[in-house]
Amino acid sequence: MSEKAKVSAVGLTKKFDDLLVLDNISFDIAKGEFVCIVGPTGCGKTTFLNILSKIWPATSGELLIDGEKADPKKHNIAFAFQESSAFPWLTVEQNIRFGMEQKNLPKEIINERTEQMLELLELKEARNYFPRQISASMESRVVIGRSFALHPDLLLMDEPYAQLDIEFRYHLEDAVLKLSKMTGSTVIFVTHNIEEAVYLAERCIVLTNKPTTVKTIEKIDLPYPRDICSKEFTDIRDRITDYIKWW
Ligand SMILES: Nc1ncnc2c1ncn2[C@@H]1O[C@H](COP(=O)(O)OP(=O)(O)OP(=O)(O)O)[C@@H](O)[C@H]1O
Ligand SMILES: [Mg+2]
Repeated sequence: MSEKAKVSAVGLTKKFDDLLVLDNISFDIAKGEFVCIVGPTGCGKTTFLNILSKIWPATSGELLIDGEKADPKKHNIAFAFQESSAFPWLTVEQNIRFGMEQKNLPKEIINERTEQMLELLELKEARNYFPRQISASMESRVVIGRSFALHPDLLLMDEPYAQLDIEFRYHLEDAVLKLSKMTGSTVIFVTHNIEEAVYLAERCIVLTNKPTTVKTIEKIDLPYPRDICSKEFTDIRDRITDYIKWW
């Protein structure tokens, strides 16, 4: 484990009864890094996030945050999962304020960050609407705003836009990149979509089929915003696709 690692998987192994899912996985994620995890369906991506966030025990090995056993009570972790939705009984603005109010942050900070999120995520006009009155893409932005407003140390995202169409996705991804730089949060973003991973990640961890190991870790050294038509971009995308070939 390196000194500055935010997250370290050390020989991480997870079994469900006889089913070996994660098989002796080791890697480090640096503080402030934006990492994507890609891998075939059922290889254990969500399981990995669950061990980080919900105190699911590992079968063996360790998953550490700042060198200590992952503990959601101690570590400042936020989530945006595919099934995440805005709270239906709160307005857009109240949704964004919610987590900060739960944490009893000072009122001025809550006000300032709320305005910043509404502005950056283009939700100002919708601030007084309830989730049922807005589109799916706007609701995804509310979930993202609610997560980033907490300035989490670690933000876990599990296919947060799987149900959105491609045009909205790029828009949201740009917002996520901007927010991650602004808050300095370490982001772990799980996706099936290799193009999305290459668009977002500083490093992309590619997993194999079960029993799952790390196939490769690609460093993606392209400036943001990335040009998805450039040769550098498509070369990396194609290389990762070759590693996986699960279709
Ligand atoms: N609570 C559980 N009990 C038993 N088996 C489980 C449990 N949770 C997950 N599994 C199994 O572990 C494996 C990994 O599941 P997981 O949901 O982590 O995969 P994933 O990589 O997130 O897949 P997807 O890309 O489809 O979201 C699967 O074979 C799944 O059936
Ligand atoms: Mg999953």
